[in-house]
Amino acid sequence: MNIRPIRVDDLPGMQACNLQNLPENYTMRYYLYHAMTWPSLSYVAEDHKGRIVGYILAKMDEDAAEDAEPHGHVTSISILRSYRRLGLAKKLMVQSQEAMATIYRASYVSLHVRKSNRAALGLYRDTLGFTVEDIEKKYYADGEDAYAMRLSLKP
Ligand code: ACO
Repeated sequence: MNIRPIRVDDLPGMQACNLQNLPENYTMRYYLYHAMTWPSLSYVAEDHKGRIVGYILAKMDEDAAEDAEPHGHVTSISILRSYRRLGLAKKLMVQSQEAMATIYRASYVSLHVRKSNRAALGLYRDTLGFTVEDIEKKYYADGEDAYAMRLSLKP
């Protein structure tokens, strides 16, 4: 399994992986926006034939006040079912986090996750050390609450 930064021709494969795994879906234009604006923050995992089996789509936060510390944000991550528990999501997260810190001087990384998403919470909280900053009520379209989580990237 190989992890590498995304290319524009990966975007349909990433979108297919997203559609299979998550109810939060994005337009191709939004994928392209990430790829063109922060090309070093998003990665794919590919199998030996070059097929995309997972991705991380990430960005720098654009809404922060001008004097606020820059921080990264994970828009979406997913791994195809038969490739889970191999450490791929952890590797994708770490690669993106390193790029946020070294290239953009991000002081932390943030994300949202469903309260019921046991696997993702295990990854973020137990494996990577994220903490819950806030609970955003009815954040998702179906009314589920989100944990707003973050991890410091300061050395
Ligand atoms: N149950 C409990 N803990 C888990 C699980 C699980 N099913 N899966 C992963 N973890 C935790 C474990 O601590 C694991 O370490 P271990 O295997 O040594 O015990 C650790 O996370 C690292 O696991 P990885 O193998 O790196 O995770 P994986 O590649 O399987 O991907 C992911 C995890 C992305 C959550 C996957 O299950 C998935 O694609 N789920 C569907 C999509 C999804 O929920 N994405 C996240 C939405 S939130 C967002 O995108 C910001």
